[in-house]
Amino acid sequence: MIQILIILTLFYCSSAISTYNVQSFGAKSDGKSDSTKAFLNAWGAACAATSPATIYVPQGRYLLQNAYFEGKSCKNTAITMRIDGTLVAPSDYNIIGKSGSWLRFERVTGVSIYGGTIDAQGTQLWACKKAGKACPQGATSLAFYNSNNIVISGLTSSNSQMFHVLIYGCKNAYLVNMKISADGNSPNTDGIHVQHSTGVTIMNSHIGTGDDCVSIGPGASNLWIENLACGPGHGVSIGSLGWDLQEAGVQNITVKTATFSGTQNGVRVKTWARPSNGFVRNVLFQHVVMSNVQNPIIIDQNYCPHNENCPNQASGVKISDVTYQDIHGTSAMQVAVKFDCSKTRPCTGITLDQVNLAYKGKPAIATCANAGGTAAGVVEPSSCL
Ligand SMILES: *[C@@H]1O[C@H](CO)[C@@H](O)[C@H](O)[C@H]1NC(C)=O
Repeated sequence: MIQILIILTLFYCSSAISTYNVQSFGAKSDGKSDSTKAFLNAWGAACAATSPATIYVPQGRYLLQNAYFEGKSCKNTAITMRIDGTLVAPSDYNIIGKSGSWLRFERVTGVSIYGGTIDAQGTQLWACKKAGKACPQGATSLAFYNSNNIVISGLTSSNSQMFHVLIYGCKNAYLVNMKISADGNSPNTDGIHVQHSTGVTIMNSHIGTGDDCVSIGPGASNLWIENLACGPGHGVSIGSLGWDLQEAGVQNITVKTATFSGTQNGVRVKTWARPSNGFVRNVLFQHVVMSNVQNPIIIDQNYCPHNENCPNQASGVKISDVTYQDIHGTSAMQVAVKFDCSKTRPCTGITLDQVNLAYKGKPAIATCANAGGTAAGVVEPSSCL
């Protein structure tokens, strides 16, 4: 038995994983020298290998401009990026801010990122946006497009210009132990945005930012979020959906064991008041603690800022089978439960099961429009379904 183990161990060691240290490709850990080319060359070398490869980023600060890790001609389906250091964006926000993403993986399969800090240095761009000046839109810090079998573990993202992490057009992504932070007043800094993707799991993560902690766009399905601490921020939001007439639906979304602290929303579904064939179905919000949350439970199908671009002021997005189970804590406003559904496609199959929310120690209020469903167990404020 022991002999077999030794042979197996030797076998594994001999088929050793090749390691590509970015410093051997010229990366400098001084935070000042541009290391973009070095990272891309390390990526190219890892991609050219057909056995599992590790790209290693030692401690220190690495200045990176836009870095696009393209997978189209990548032969390798097991690339690990192990990051002990910090990747930092140029201090001039225009350099990355005019493109969609800063660190971008596209059409990759089997990429795992372990550890690391990414700092997009977004504070000056936020200030520009808040001052109402002409500024670039800003870049997503870390984006995965059209990729499969992704792992992101133990990543810290701070001060993103826009979204911190984007998962778009992907199949099977596992995000765990994420630490995401930006100022509570920073505009458009969603923590993790998931769109047109299936099989995404977000576990054990702490997100405090200026916009949604997790936002869920059209075409998201089989999404699992568990052990999430959110705040500051705008909560977990399905939507905004229903801007387009033809739009992929959202289905099978689970948010289990989450705390929301001082956030604008807890669990939200939000759609434009516009015609659309989109839908939201089979959603479970379970074991959620709200602490001083402005809108703990909200469905808003009348989203139409400045009352522009919403003919007839009704959403075509059909919302059905949304369950709220074991949700308790405090609301920062008297209306703790709000179901404002579409007058042309009312919400159906909403379930409230053991929901207990208080407003400053007093009873809170629930309001409903065009919303149907059932309540079970203790439900406070009492159900308006
Ligand atoms: C719903 O999504 C979960 C993962 O979040 C998956 O395990 C389950 O099979 C999906 N259910 C259906 C009916 O697709």
